[in-house]
Amino acid sequence: MATGSRPTTFPPGFLFGAATASYQIEGGAAADGRGPSIWDTFSHAPGNVANGDTGDNACRHYEMVDADLELMRELGLEAYRFSIAWPRIQPDASREPNRRGLAFYDRLVDGLLARGIRPSLTLNHWDIPQWVEDAGGWPARDTIHRFVDYATIVAGCLGDRVPMWTTHNEPWVAAWLGYGAGIFAPGIADNRVAIAAHHHLLVAHGDAVTALRDLLPSSAEIGIVLNLMHCYPASGHPADVDAARLADGHLNRSFASPLFEGGYPTDLPGFSEGWADDALVRPDDLARIAAPIDFLGINTYQPRRIAAPERLPALRSDGLFGTPGGLLAFGMPIADVERFDVPRTTMGWPIEPEGFEDLLVRAGTDWKTPIYVTENGAAFDDCASPEGAVVDERRIAYLHGHLEAMARAMARGIDVRGYFVWSLFDNFEWASGYGKRFGIVYVDYPTGRRTPKSSARWYRDVVRRHALPEAGDLEAATRTRGVER
Ligand code: FCB
Repeated sequence: MATGSRPTTFPPGFLFGAATASYQIEGGAAADGRGPSIWDTFSHAPGNVANGDTGDNACRHYEMVDADLELMRELGLEAYRFSIAWPRIQPDASREPNRRGLAFYDRLVDGLLARGIRPSLTLNHWDIPQWVEDAGGWPARDTIHRFVDYATIVAGCLGDRVPMWTTHNEPWVAAWLGYGAGIFAPGIADNRVAIAAHHHLLVAHGDAVTALRDLLPSSAEIGIVLNLMHCYPASGHPADVDAARLADGHLNRSFASPLFEGGYPTDLPGFSEGWADDALVRPDDLARIAAPIDFLGINTYQPRRIAAPERLPALRSDGLFGTPGGLLAFGMPIADVERFDVPRTTMGWPIEPEGFEDLLVRAGTDWKTPIYVTENGAAFDDCASPEGAVVDERRIAYLHGHLEAMARAMARGIDVRGYFVWSLFDNFEWASGYGKRFGIVYVDYPTGRRTPKSSARWYRDVVRRHALPEAGDLEAATRTRGVER
């Protein structure tokens, strides 16, 4: 909580925004020559997405873009993070640029600039074209060149107006949930394949950074967005400390070390051998990956608490429970444990703002690169009242707690330059479909109708004042009923 009577404030240049991603909001799956993406294919195959949901229509942002731009202005956003759908830009294997697809983003960027909102562009938020996957996808080395070609086309169209460029969003997810666990597109479950995807994503990032440096004005900021999670050992026991090191190595260091320290972790049995394979990691790959970047984007929602599997019975008496393995273990001898007493979002994710502070301090200290928090937020079971108001106190409390934690990290000297709430809209939450609502704006999917939630009004005030409301104001804010429009 805020200390004493001093409110938590953010410096004048600090950027407050909201984030979305193309496949999650656009819809318009066949509009203006768009080709299929791996997420179209994956979501249309039975059993992959909850409720059989697909992104065919999503929030219909593709057709409602002008109204959405107005909404962003009304909400007082200073910045908007969006992604480009590669299948709109190069719909098929001919690789010909699709002018109509580019025109959509042209209009979006101009609309943002006209409203004084800073565009923050992501090239790859997972929805790569199906034709790229058919040619081998990220496990194939050639995809590096395909990605650089695509980045070059986008830079040629928008490079003069977009000040902030991200190569990949959460490449760990693309590699490990898409090709390792198989629960995200393209649905392949093979650790060896995931290691190849992981490496090619990184080389493609580095090569795209180098290409963009030549094409963009020198004022443009170029970076990457990683999904980092602080990994606490479940106890001070050496076995738990060691298990937490493995989890951190796989989730965090396997991307951050090659990006910032020039090499892959060597302490991860089962994985380090893959990265030591000369056939995969060619002589100058590591130098290419480490091309200097201007910022590290961090997406984070929750910390993890890790134990050695054999320690679980002993930990139960400390109020911790868990199961060995689990989705994110990828065969490593680790167990995710959870505390009984921690509140959770409807994703089941624990709400622990201290984990956010510790993560920012760790990232800023170890990797010494300016940070933008490119995603942070929470899903709750929001519903609209008969009068159409959506009161989401728990989201306000989540955001308040996390912004305070971020401010504490900044007070400890960490260079955090901006914060983007996930998400502007309720949207297609990947394998969870439309059931999980992360938006500060409620979306009624059958009609496309948008209703700003109480959190949108609260966030608008935070952005306007560059300060958090004091505790009393917080209580008042949670009683507010939506945003007047
Ligand atoms: C992140 C994704 C984003 C959204 C949030 C909840 O991993 O980048 O698209 O799904 O999680």
